[in-house]
Amino acid sequence: MNFQAVLAGLPDAVIAVDEALRVVFWNAAAEELTERSARRMEGRMLKEVFAPDASLVRRLSETLAMGLSRSETETSVERPDHRVIPVSIVTAPLFDRAGRVEAAVAVVRDLSRIRQLEAEVRRGETLAAAGRMAVGLAHEIRNPLGAIRGAVQLLGRELGAASPLQEYTTVLLTEVDRVNRIIEMLLDLARPVTIRPVPLNLHQLLERVALLTEQSARERRVTIVRRYDPSLPPILGDEDRLVQVFHNLVRNAIEAMGDGGQLTLATRVSMNPLFGKVDMGAGQRSMVEVQVLDEGSGIPAAARGRIFDPFFTTKERGLGLGLAICHQVMEQHHGAIQIDSIEGHGTTVTCFLPIAR
Ligand SMILES: Nc1ncnc2c1ncn2[C@@H]1O[C@H](COP(=O)(O)OP(=O)(O)OP(=O)(O)O)[C@@H](O)[C@H]1O
Ligand SMILES: [Mg+2]
Repeated sequence: MNFQAVLAGLPDAVIAVDEALRVVFWNAAAEELTERSARRMEGRMLKEVFAPDASLVRRLSETLAMGLSRSETETSVERPDHRVIPVSIVTAPLFDRAGRVEAAVAVVRDLSRIRQLEAEVRRGETLAAAGRMAVGLAHEIRNPLGAIRGAVQLLGRELGAASPLQEYTTVLLTEVDRVNRIIEMLLDLARPVTIRPVPLNLHQLLERVALLTEQSARERRVTIVRRYDPSLPPILGDEDRLVQVFHNLVRNAIEAMGDGGQLTLATRVSMNPLFGKVDMGAGQRSMVEVQVLDEGSGIPAAARGRIFDPFFTTKERGLGLGLAICHQVMEQHHGAIQIDSIEGHGTTVTCFLPIAR
């Protein structure tokens, strides 16, 4: 039996250290989880790579000192790019013939996928609750709102175009329309409209979005850069829904860049990130990838798990519905959406969409 091969094939990271906390074994899953190669790690002191108070270092030291197994169900490891991955850790001592502790081994399990699934379930529940509330509210609010709008328009006409009070009627109308839009958005989330996917030219669609956001980009000194793959095949999608998605993403990117910067729209064909990992039904091997990259504030680690939740917002005038809608639309398209962000540097949102065949 080749134990090395068994350990290499395990989905959990297996890390062994000698008494001095020098790495003696680092399996393939450990490489993937920590984004550090076995070649670079084996022979190195664990404390040189991870902070001395990192859970992994602490638990292995305790195991070496006490000869006892330790475990931690909720902790994390940090990657070289400072991204923090939620994990559970279990350690065990290894004894020599004389019964002395000569090494310790840690099994580290990546919990990010589980956390993601938990978040999706939570999100689904909140969406359903928000939806029920929205349908109820919509009826109660829309009619009086319609009456208010009508009355304000009449008032405006009575006052005449020259009246200084006209300013107020304009404010009233804009705000009434804003409330109407909120209701529309909530209703969209409530009754997942069936999408009508047709072959689409994604670049034309992105240009529509660029046009919609041109004005606010200019106001915030944001330049839009295109990095389009000229040989991109048509995608299969619902144009209006996808415009909504990319409009939300581009708006978020612009809003994140307080003192201007570069917003990049990039497209290419790439591997489906979920292919073979989960049952995708008619999932395709390759998909079209669209990235919206900004140089904005980034998303603080504490907020990262919640940004897709409906009503999660850090903006004064935000509703927190943009990304919830994006997520829903991408799901309806059997696509995917991923967000990577480095605080203080920027955010990259990657969307995967099916290719039309
Ligand atoms: N590109 C980005 N850069 C930094 N933070 C972002 C970015 N995109 C989203 N966020 C964070 O995620 C939160 C949720 O975004 P989301 O689009 O769902 O709602 P919102 O923009 O606050 O409101 P709205 O409903 O108007 O879109 C934002 O409030 C912001 O904190
Ligand atoms: Mg938004």
